Amino acid sequence: MSRSTFTPDLESATSRADEQQLHIALNDGTRIPQLGLGVYKTPADETAEIVRYAAKAGYQMVDTAAFYGNESGVGDALQDFPDLYAVTKLWTQDMGYDKAMRAFDESARKLRREVIDLYLIHWPMPKSGLAVESWKALIKLKNDGRIRSIGVCNFQQEHLTQLIEETGVKPVLNQIELHPAFQQRELRAFNDSLDIRTEAWSPLGQGGGLGGEIIAGIADKHGKTPGQIVIRWHLEQGNIVIPKSANPKRIDENLGVFDFHLDDDDMKRIATLERKDGRTGPDPYTADF
Ligand SMILES: NC(=O)c1ccc[n+]([C@@H]2O[C@H](COP(=O)([O-])OP(=O)(O)OC[C@H]3O[C@@H](n4cnc5c(N)ncnc54)[C@H](OP(=O)(O)O)[C@@H]3O)[C@@H](O)[C@H]2O)c1
Repeated sequence: MSRSTFTPDLESATSRADEQQLHIALNDGTRIPQLGLGVYKTPADETAEIVRYAAKAGYQMVDTAAFYGNESGVGDALQDFPDLYAVTKLWTQDMGYDKAMRAFDESARKLRREVIDLYLIHWPMPKSGLAVESWKALIKLKNDGRIRSIGVCNFQQEHLTQLIEETGVKPVLNQIELHPAFQQRELRAFNDSLDIRTEAWSPLGQGGGLGGEIIAGIADKHGKTPGQIVIRWHLEQGNIVIPKSANPKRIDENLGVFDFHLDDDDMKRIATLERKDGRTGPDPYTADF
């Protein structure tokens, strides 16, 4: 794992007004900040300071997972920023009713939170056949008041349909790989049809898609950076978005997206960036962890 050169300077982080940021209504009556900080691959021993820096800068949500190995660092930061909306995920090896219950306890202990704002099943793992049992555990934890909202990641249409048919409970959101090279139009529309919000992971294409001419041209036009254009593109479509950065300059940069809009022409040009080989992560049907 590469090491970042993060040197926190909490004093230099300037807090942005709450009202600049948007919230998205979820189908269980709660609301989620539309922009958060992702911490996949953020080094465990730097996570607390990075999350503290981001919270001070104005981030209102943090997205971690048991799999990322940095929940304890997030938990340390949550002690100082108790209002930060905290998201974590059930790993594939912990699926099943009893294992999910234990895994949740462990995540809550590391996050040092009595109540987790949002808990997600990380992958559907269709071959395991354990998604529905895991979902029943999440429903119980929500009914017991341990989790405010429950959702999923990487679920395809048939996985969502099965979950809802067998339990009658809809996820509040589906967190999926989504960026200009992989726009997921069909799955987004399916999520919408069920009143399930779409959250974009790898929203910047892991930084890979930011060097192209189209994004650069739109960035010049608005006096913004390519990263800000892509984050704004997500916001315009109603996606919840969790760009990861472990670099203070880019943590600030990625928050500078609430003072401009993309126009129809910008949106049409970004729509052309979809690629057949645009997926960068595992295929949810065949993922094997
Ligand atoms: N549910 C799932 O299965 C799943 C899978 C993957 C990810 N996720 C979540 O989604 C979050 C985001 O996805 P991701 O981390 O894969 O990728 P990403 O956010 O698309 O990209 C992160 C990469 O882009 C760089 N970067 C950040 N801001 C930038 C900017 N403004 N300009 C240029 N480069 C920039 C980062 O480097 P620096 O750190 O050096 O800035 C890092 O290398 C994760 O952290 C995680 O919370 C969920």
